[in-house]
Amino acid sequence: MSGVAASPPAAGSLLSTRGLSLHFGGVVAADAIDFDLMPGERLAVVGQNGAGKTTFINICTGYLRPSAGQVYFDGVNVTGQSPRAITRRGIGRSFQLPQVFTEHSVRQCLLIAASAVHPRLRLWRPLAQSAAAAEVDATLALLQLQPRANDLAGQLPEGQRKLLDVAMALMLRPKLMVMDEPTSGVSSDEKHALMAVLMQALDERQVTCIFVEHDIDIVRRYATRLAAWIAGKVAADGAPEAVLRDPLVRRHIVGE
Ligand SMILES: Nc1ncnc2c1ncn2[C@@H]1O[C@H](COP(=O)(O)OP(=O)(O)OP(=O)(O)O)[C@@H](O)[C@H]1O
Ligand SMILES: [Mg+2]
Repeated sequence: MSGVAASPPAAGSLLSTRGLSLHFGGVVAADAIDFDLMPGERLAVVGQNGAGKTTFINICTGYLRPSAGQVYFDGVNVTGQSPRAITRRGIGRSFQLPQVFTEHSVRQCLLIAASAVHPRLRLWRPLAQSAAAAEVDATLALLQLQPRANDLAGQLPEGQRKLLDVAMALMLRPKLMVMDEPTSGVSSDEKHALMAVLMQALDERQVTCIFVEHDIDIVRRYATRLAAWIAGKVAADGAPEAVLRDPLVRRHIVGE
């Protein structure tokens, strides 16, 4: 411990970290990260493979415990809480590899997602059933998945599997959606269409978002703010065009 008290989260921030650190053996995956995200932001996170982007997300969403530091969500210290507890507080999450129930239909996946976090959702009661069904239909429409409602999740092409992963998270009405590489594994032709659907859905529901992205065109088009990760640190953070002009970012990330 340094003995110096960490500063509190910025006033009105949705997500904040203070001194967030995690080492894996000799690898510093998160290096004393101080970070504030304000409601309404669309933050893109860029960085080379192994820079610590997923580690940061995993700590903020409870999948990893930091060795030091704090995570605040909506003004509450949530450091070390379980992924489920953090989900209930209002952070939705999608994954580098979509976590869908491949043996279930798209519609069933959404129902399972809702009931997994709200165990007292009494889905056998007719009223609860119709409310849940209405929410499923609204979410399917929001992500343009209605034509696939009865298909097995495991049979979806990658782009729609990504949409389903986000749809499952949106069933829980999060305030913040954290998406780890929402366009990875999708052809470059399809990436823009996929992001357009995702961003419109988040706009409609007024959900703030963080997304990890390697494609700089996508970042330019959809982010209101950009943070560049280098070796477990936020090396540059601000307006996307300004961050993309940063010499460190150009050398290490944009590849110029
Ligand atoms: N569970 C773990 N055990 C050991 N080392 C890990 C673990 N998770 C991540 N690391 C290491 O921590 C560093 C950061 O990894 P992380 O997955 O956060 O990177 P990333 O920026 O998401 O990379 P990518 O673009 O490849 O997804 C890497 O060196 C990685 O090998
Ligand atoms: Mg990653």
